[in-house]
Amino acid sequence: MALLELSHVDSYYGDSHILFDLSLTIEEGEVVCLLGRNGAGKTTTVRSIMGLTPPRSGRITLGGQDLVGLPAFRIARLGLGFVPEDRRVFPNLTVHENLEVARQTWGNGAAHPVVRPWTHDAVFELFPVLRTRRSQLGGTLSGGEQQMLTIARTLMGNPRILLLDEPSEGLAPLVVEALRQQLGRLKETGLTLVLTEQNVRFVSELGDRVYILEKGMVRWTSSMAEFLDNAEVRRAYLAV
Ligand SMILES: Nc1ncnc2c1ncn2[C@@H]1O[C@H](COP(=O)(O)OP(=O)(O)OP(=O)(O)O)[C@@H](O)[C@H]1O
Ligand SMILES: [Mg+2]
Repeated sequence: MALLELSHVDSYYGDSHILFDLSLTIEEGEVVCLLGRNGAGKTTTVRSIMGLTPPRSGRITLGGQDLVGLPAFRIARLGLGFVPEDRRVFPNLTVHENLEVARQTWGNGAAHPVVRPWTHDAVFELFPVLRTRRSQLGGTLSGGEQQMLTIARTLMGNPRILLLDEPSEGLAPLVVEALRQQLGRLKETGLTLVLTEQNVRFVSELGDRVYILEKGMVRWTSSMAEFLDNAEVRRAYLAV
């Protein structure tokens, strides 16, 4: 059984039909990339998983448990950590307080087995710059630092799966490279990652498998290696 499974999902915004019969699986410990151009349905897919745009039909299961119909906060508590496109830090809290709020919200007694609960020290090890900024207000951090703090806060919830919506977007090249290495280290801990991206270079070394979306449908799925070998698929479905 896959850790996370979407089968025949259809999602809407009001009357607009956005996702069509979308099926995908995520295995434990994998890094799966959802790729596609602007408007392909990447964000809607992760919002559907998180219960923020619940599917109108189809099934989504986490470890066999049905998620559709559960409120978003329950889905998050079952172990799905979501880092949305618009980084969400508390601007008037310090870095330390941002992490502390997340820790208190989630506690370490999550409803799922955690191999190693995340602590301030563990996230500072992963993102050393946050340690140096720990007394600084969230709102004064750079875009890259806010992205790292958002990921760090989400980790404090001890997710089983971390979903990141276009994490490299709008970041300077050096910051993107640092983030890529940090996500690589997260992968090494065995954490399951789902990444939406348009930036193929960002995910080419990190990803194990890809799904390519177009117009709310899965158009292609393969291993990352097979995808990188196929220039035709990249040309057809991505802006590269
Ligand atoms: N709130 C909304 N109401 C109506 N339509 C929406 C809404 N949000 C997105 N859409 C439409 O749904 C489709 C899929 O959008 P989505 O944001 O999922 O794509 P995406 O792949 O994440 O794109 P991007 O790369 O620009 O982030 C697009 O046609 C978009 O215009
Ligand atoms: Mg998007």
